[in-house]
Amino acid sequence: MKIGVLTSGGDAPGMNAAIRAVVRTAIYYGMEAYGIQDGYKGLVEGKIYKLGRNDVGQMLNRGGTILGSSRLKEFAQKEVREIAVKHLNNHGIDALVVIGGDGTYRGAMALNEMGIKCIALPGTIDNDISSTEYTIGFFTALDTAIDAIDKLRDTSFSHQRCTVVEVMGRDCGDLSIFAGVACGAEIVITKETGFEKQRVLERVKNAKAMGKRHIIIVVAENIVDVNVLAKEIEAFTLYETRATVLGHIQRGGTPSAFDRVLASKMGSFAVDLLGKGLSGKAVFSKGIEIDYCDIQEALNKKRPITDLYRYLEKLN
Ligand code: F6P
Repeated sequence: MKIGVLTSGGDAPGMNAAIRAVVRTAIYYGMEAYGIQDGYKGLVEGKIYKLGRNDVGQMLNRGGTILGSSRLKEFAQKEVREIAVKHLNNHGIDALVVIGGDGTYRGAMALNEMGIKCIALPGTIDNDISSTEYTIGFFTALDTAIDAIDKLRDTSFSHQRCTVVEVMGRDCGDLSIFAGVACGAEIVITKETGFEKQRVLERVKNAKAMGKRHIIIVVAENIVDVNVLAKEIEAFTLYETRATVLGHIQRGGTPSAFDRVLASKMGSFAVDLLGKGLSGKAVFSKGIEIDYCDIQEALNKKRPITDLYRYLEKLN
């Protein structure tokens, strides 16, 4: 069997550990492993290279993805996918392990229907894949956000300021909610918690009246312009306020122990599934266990909202 591996969508710490696990497990079983550069874009461009076990050495601790990644909207078109299938056929590659988010899963499902056996692994900092409890990269990005917010807390305290900090997550508030709990943020604003501006302004004003020296507000991206919100808070509460957007810093860095282990298990498990003749499956985590379901099921599932946000009010 010849197995290809690619990473697609936003990169996430731990992707390299997953690539390594796919390649090493394939070789362990006597299969051949191929790396596809730059996600589906590279696949369409025929950027396919054979990988040996040493090609994936020295990378467990590296952030990003050594294979490169991309977002290719055109992959939704059948004619574009046909080019990808042709390249895979030319190399005799009959199976693919893809690591990424929802868009990556959709691409894998479509390829699977075109005869390429696909297994999808959840790799994104957003933790927004409904089928899995945790995605590869989420906890590392969370640590990065926590580290940054702790630093903002230092200066916020010194200057008696209100700090508004924007955290990534696309449409999922998990990074913000987990970071809010871990950093003791006074207010967390996400799609799940809801956003009523007047209520936020009142809460900050009350906090100041109660003598709070400083205040941290964590805001998930795509909810409100944090620079505008900071100005509005300052005008309403007379609390000196600063806004910080953490941005892409959250995507990089050395993967945490949890992400390395999760990615290694999932990568190896994906090859096991292919070896058993299974395809069109998505690997997921539940507690410390991993398992699989149909990619279709993973895409259709409604995302359960983390119950952690219910704790926020009680903790402040
Ligand atoms: O999906 C990961 C993510 O970092 C999201 O949190 C964010 O909304 C998006 O990617 C940013 O995408 P890009 O790197 O293409 O700007």
